[in-house]
Amino acid sequence: MRKLNCLILALSLALGASAQDSLISNVPARKALSLNGKWQYIVDPYETGFYDYRYKELKADNGDAYWNTDVPANKTEKKEHGYNDKYSLNVPGDWNHQKPEFVYYEGTIWYKKAFDYNKASANNRFFIWFGAVNYRADVYLNGKKLGMHKGGFTPFNFEVPASLLKEKGNFLVVKVDNKRYADEVPTLNTDWWNYGGITREVKLLELPQNFIQDFVIQLKKPDPGKAPLATPDVDGWIRLNKAPAAGEQLTVEIPELKFKKQIAATGSITPVKFRLPKMQLWSPENPKRYQVIISSSADKTEDKIGFRTVEAFGKQVLLNGKPIFMRGICIHGEMAGDVRRAVGYDDARKLLNQAKELHCNMVRLAHYPHDEAMTRTADSLGVLVWSEIPVYWTIDFGNPAVLAKAKAQLHEMINRDHNRASIIIWSVGNETPISQTRTDFMHSLITEAKSLDQTRMVSAALEVNYGALKDVNVVDDPLGQFVDLVAFNEYLGWYGGLPDKCRTTNWSTPYNKPLFISETGAEALAGFHADSLTRFSEEFQEWYFKEQTAMFKRMPDNFVGVSPWVMVDFRSPKRNNPLYQEGWNRKGLYGEKGEKKKAFFVLRNYYDQVKQTADKKTVK
Ligand code: GCU
Repeated sequence: MRKLNCLILALSLALGASAQDSLISNVPARKALSLNGKWQYIVDPYETGFYDYRYKELKADNGDAYWNTDVPANKTEKKEHGYNDKYSLNVPGDWNHQKPEFVYYEGTIWYKKAFDYNKASANNRFFIWFGAVNYRADVYLNGKKLGMHKGGFTPFNFEVPASLLKEKGNFLVVKVDNKRYADEVPTLNTDWWNYGGITREVKLLELPQNFIQDFVIQLKKPDPGKAPLATPDVDGWIRLNKAPAAGEQLTVEIPELKFKKQIAATGSITPVKFRLPKMQLWSPENPKRYQVIISSSADKTEDKIGFRTVEAFGKQVLLNGKPIFMRGICIHGEMAGDVRRAVGYDDARKLLNQAKELHCNMVRLAHYPHDEAMTRTADSLGVLVWSEIPVYWTIDFGNPAVLAKAKAQLHEMINRDHNRASIIIWSVGNETPISQTRTDFMHSLITEAKSLDQTRMVSAALEVNYGALKDVNVVDDPLGQFVDLVAFNEYLGWYGGLPDKCRTTNWSTPYNKPLFISETGAEALAGFHADSLTRFSEEFQEWYFKEQTAMFKRMPDNFVGVSPWVMVDFRSPKRNNPLYQEGWNRKGLYGEKGEKKKAFFVLRNYYDQVKQTADKKTVK
């Protein structure tokens, strides 16, 4: 069995590694042909377009395969599939909200897009790039398979041989399958809607033979407890898609700082270290960003980057060397009013402005990487971000192939966003049941995250040892040894007892690290009013937050913040109370139509109070 596991691991790492290593970052800055818009589709619950009637995978040139042309060669030829404008879906967008019959659909849908393309040069390189597809994508162009990707919330791209790309009538087909499986990430059971489809943007990129594939331009990890220098040091790197010719020079330019530095390329990855002139640090109060231009002899790209440092230092979290208190809120990537996956800048601004209206300085993007527009908008609005991969609940921790899948998503999340100043925490999971196998799995993810990025904190929502001591709940989850921020979810008064239980409950952790409440919440149907003992009333939720925020004032001195669950009501197939839920998790402080519930004002009031004291804190 062990040998088989090693074989599986090697295979999956090979598969996973290629997907991570080929990712092109900073795509929004690239000139590209947008493939957004109407795509034709075929619903295929029996996978007829992929398997024959003996359930054997169809051969590549089989005319019945849905990736091959749907046009019969003549009036006699049999075709039992076809793409037609009568059946079209908008991309980007989940399919669930676009057709009533798709609300609960879990299965395969084939998408097809025809497009023309004039190459700038046949000597360039061409890639089809996806912002995300939930969950599995098999991608074909003009009948040829480009690749397969798994993971519903992170970007990926496949190269297109120049000879395959036609000037007229390219036939791009994507098989999307959002079925859930025990050995996937996430696994079978989640408390959110399994929105399927090409949920984010699709682009055709044309790049020079030698191009800038990825780069990190960020301040170096701070000296423990210290603020960045007035002229801080950058410690990053530039990755070319292949080893450069001898003498290749790379340039980093920050026009506003009148800064320009040339660096001799030392390989496909060139370290980039330099001291910045006097500049403005990024912070929630002053989300200053600079245009950073990276160029090589053949390519040029640019990004808007904020410079700041963040670290867990003793019992505090320091941003630019100053202690902060995170006034957070958890957010799902969903537009409740429309009942659909959030995507694009309008959605991002709406959600983040709702968080700012709650007087938050931080959001926990649960439980998966959100659209890139979200983290880029957080940069511009000055909102701190906790970004997380969907290693959620009962993952198949003993399966090396599942670890490889989780690592692939971790790489894609970090590679996409490692220049986002707003992101201060990478989270490797949520509420995973304690066992040695699980702790080894999660520890491996923490080590992987730190190997990719030493400048941010790594965390996860840990488990609580309730009643470990009399009236004290202890966060002694073994994973606490390896995280920078000890975070935990608690629902005292919703899932256990009533809210007044908060009055006699205390919290502690044996870890000398900052302590963060990553979830706490209670349900209320917006507009349903009763006495505070009536479950699902706004008054019950209001009482819950009154007791919780009073308890927060008695937290130990390493308490650095909270992100209550959740900003807006969200869809979940697990929530089936016919009067109050009807397929919605009602723990939002906003209702599905954006109504502010009474608890909203309790939490905002607490944040106003805590902001006064937090701003005066000094480094201990
Ligand atoms: C859990 C979980 C959330 C879930 C919430 C709830 O803590 O992390 O995803 O929605 O509890 O029960 O509402």
